[in-house]
Amino acid sequence: MQNFDYMTPTRLIFGKGVVEKLPEVMGQFGKRILLTYGGGSIKKIGLYQKVLDLLKDKEIIELSGIQPNPKYDPSVLDGVRLCKEHKVDVILAVGGGSVLDCSKAIAAGACYDGDPWDLISYKVKAQAALPIVDIITLAATGSEYDAGGVISRTETNDKIGYMDDHLYPHTSFLDPTYTFTVSRKQTAAGIADAMNHTIEQYFAEDTTLLNDGFCESMLRSLMVNGRRCLENPEDYTARAEMMLACTYGCNGILSLGNSYSGWPCHGIEHALSAYYDITHGEGLAIITPRWMRHILNDHTLPRFVKYGINVFGVDANLDKWDIANKAIDETDAFFESIGIPMHLREVGIDDSRIGEMAHHIAVNEGLDHAYAPLSEKDITDILIASL
Ligand code: NZQ
Ligand code: ZN
Repeated sequence: MQNFDYMTPTRLIFGKGVVEKLPEVMGQFGKRILLTYGGGSIKKIGLYQKVLDLLKDKEIIELSGIQPNPKYDPSVLDGVRLCKEHKVDVILAVGGGSVLDCSKAIAAGACYDGDPWDLISYKVKAQAALPIVDIITLAATGSEYDAGGVISRTETNDKIGYMDDHLYPHTSFLDPTYTFTVSRKQTAAGIADAMNHTIEQYFAEDTTLLNDGFCESMLRSLMVNGRRCLENPEDYTARAEMMLACTYGCNGILSLGNSYSGWPCHGIEHALSAYYDITHGEGLAIITPRWMRHILNDHTLPRFVKYGINVFGVDANLDKWDIANKAIDETDAFFESIGIPMHLREVGIDDSRIGEMAHHIAVNEGLDHAYAPLSEKDITDILIASL
């Protein structure tokens, strides 16, 4: 087991109606709040008005229209400007992972005098960030429990995962009832995203029985409850378990002591959504089985065997290669069964920019140090197999 130094300082407040505690939490900060949200889903579910009612003694400054795959320009830049102009004390992000990620970049940018891209691109280390509170309305990214935000810069086709300990939310509110209205497409994408977060940590060196068991249970829970959410979007128990599982996805708790896996599917997918603005979870679902097939070899075989037996219940008496291949088939079939388009062409990506994207990924994502190292040629092959 590897050494580690771990802390997640975020307070999670989970369950039906927990938003009533918002005034207590926001009372710890000053009066001026930047309320961030997306394209309007929070208005449709009544949450926007609820938040305003709960915080009527506060000064609310709004940043709306934050898009999926949140953009540096205009959203991050506008948010930083608003924070500085209005001397904002705290950011309240209400929405999905994109709103929260954007808010994290704003929180750091608001405490920095230079161009916020310096921080996101790791040219300069943030010295501080505004406190962030969130009400997460979509189960997927785990942003509510981690120190990362993923920001897109359209003109350079960059989509950068920006991590910094200052970016942990102070408090995250998780009320599963707010996820009842999430569409089938976004629910399925959320299942795939959280499953992939787990897979990215499971396929690593120095894994333990403890972490493997945690990951295997995450995957089984996400598949069972994910299906239930799709069958009955208002199944509270299923939405609740899915929401909690997603929360564990990205803050490292699944892989404490493991060697770093390199998160290869995310490295590849971030380029797909940077170049084509596709839905993150769909891109991951398409890449994951192709990446698995590509890296299956004598060295990785035992991991696939364990994954097949413990996650999908593949017969342990079969030949090891058969178990591994069945496990990959099952992964692919599960994503397809929840309605995810499983080919890049179905989400509008053809072969015209594959070389360019593979080069971008190879240069920027460091996948030559991943659990199964990937060269530019390997990345190209995975992308072609995903078409
Ligand atoms: O914009 P609004 O109107 O709010 O609609 C959103 C959006 O269109 C809608 N939505 C959200 N909550 C809803 C709802 N619709 C109905 N009812 C609700 N309760 O869903 C759409 C997608 O929202 P988005 O926030 O983009 O989805 P998600 O939470 O999946 O976030 C995806 C982003 O997070 C990044 C991804 O790369 C992508 O940019 N990630 C962030 C991570 C992190 N911070 O740790 C890790 C992940 O690996 C991921 O990379
Ligand atoms: Zn993800």
